[in-house]
Amino acid sequence: MFQDQITPPMSAARAREIATAFDLRALPADFLANPYPVYTALREHEPVRHMPDGSVFITRYADLVAVYRDAATFSSDKHVEFAPKYGAGSALYEHHTTSLVFNDPPLHTRVRKLIMGALTRRAIADMESGLVALVDSLLDAIEARGGGDLIEDFASAIPVEIIGNLLGVPHADRGPLRAWSLAILGALEPVVSPAQHALGNRSVSEMLVYLRTLVAERRQRPGDPERDVLTRLIQGEVDGERLSEVELLQNCIFLLNAGHETTTNLIGNGLILLEEFPAAKAGLLADLRATASEAAAQEQLLTLAVDEFLRFESSNQLGNRRALKPTQVGNVDLPEGALVTLCIGAANRDPAQFARPETLDLKREGNKHLAFGFGIHQCAGLSLARLEGRIAIGRFLQRFPDYRLSQAPVRGGRARFRGFLGAPFSVS
Ligand code: HEM
Repeated sequence: MFQDQITPPMSAARAREIATAFDLRALPADFLANPYPVYTALREHEPVRHMPDGSVFITRYADLVAVYRDAATFSSDKHVEFAPKYGAGSALYEHHTTSLVFNDPPLHTRVRKLIMGALTRRAIADMESGLVALVDSLLDAIEARGGGDLIEDFASAIPVEIIGNLLGVPHADRGPLRAWSLAILGALEPVVSPAQHALGNRSVSEMLVYLRTLVAERRQRPGDPERDVLTRLIQGEVDGERLSEVELLQNCIFLLNAGHETTTNLIGNGLILLEEFPAAKAGLLADLRATASEAAAQEQLLTLAVDEFLRFESSNQLGNRRALKPTQVGNVDLPEGALVTLCIGAANRDPAQFARPETLDLKREGNKHLAFGFGIHQCAGLSLARLEGRIAIGRFLQRFPDYRLSQAPVRGGRARFRGFLGAPFSVS
């Protein structure tokens, strides 16, 4: 059930040249279409690459794990890094520097405990029937039209509803969520134009206006704190402390965004990879047919496939940390204050960790990919994301095993978030 990605062979001299010229802020023209040859060159020749702006870019699996593990040395706090990027006091600066993912303990711990308390195994299992109904209604509409756009009409339509349900955002209010999310997370790209800055700032401000009303209503009419994340964040106390209003609003924005583009990309990337690798698709379909009467076996097949999609085309390709003291990564000395970019996409294809890493192996066992990060900041929504991926991709395949892309899919054009903006397809 697998097929290798076809990558033209590269000489060691050429690979070294690519690695020593690599600059995240000036990417080669063809990088976004296929970054993997560049990642390979970096892993082999410059695994701790000093970039012209003074930061380092790391690509080996073991080095990423070491950085993720040592949260006392490698901080997630972005106040220093984001002040020049966004301007201290801007809406984007306030948002990103208040969200849990860009903070260290104790703020990180307080918010994470509240969120994890609501994202229990039971709460996630309870979402399954609603998710199935949502996916089936999208598939009905696609069937009636004979096709559509994989991203617009399917992949992106699922997370917006799931995350909207999680925070109890009324259906009628969900329209702008995706555009806000794309603009705010888009501003995390290594290079951001003035227009993207302006859009990101405006999006944070609009989301704040919206969430102030939502929070005020929820304070008046609280939901079940066991199920409703927003009620939990409002009422919840950790060590006798509640979240301040700013912390509450900014972390709601983060939650609404975190589960959005990443999950859209998981579903979109998965279905597009299956088109790119027909043998893998045929193998998965055959296995699903052979286990048609065994729900647990089907679930297992799809769970393994989803994790392989996450490894092979990680929705979130980059992470960032800052060294709080002089330290080392991969035997390279780093000074206090060094900014480190963790390349998840490269680590997830590291042959030192994964057998045949350039092969899409939908039955890969022991797949300890880093698509959800690792350590104290590991994705708080990973079980929900896996559930969404499994149900969406599984039911799509069951309904439309012969779907075909009718045009080349259009890439999102981002280095950090890897996915597609559009992918027209037909099902007849
Ligand atoms: C395929 C989908 C997803 C991917 C690939 C993904 C990826 C990630 C990664 C890599 C991180 C760690 C960032 C770091 O260490 O700097 C993270 C953190 C986080 N994610 Fe996800 N995510 C996904 C879906 C979701 C969903 C559905 C939710 C919401 C329910 C969510 C909520 C969060 C939260 C709250 C954090 C911050 C955790 C912390 O700082 O402790 N994510 N995610």
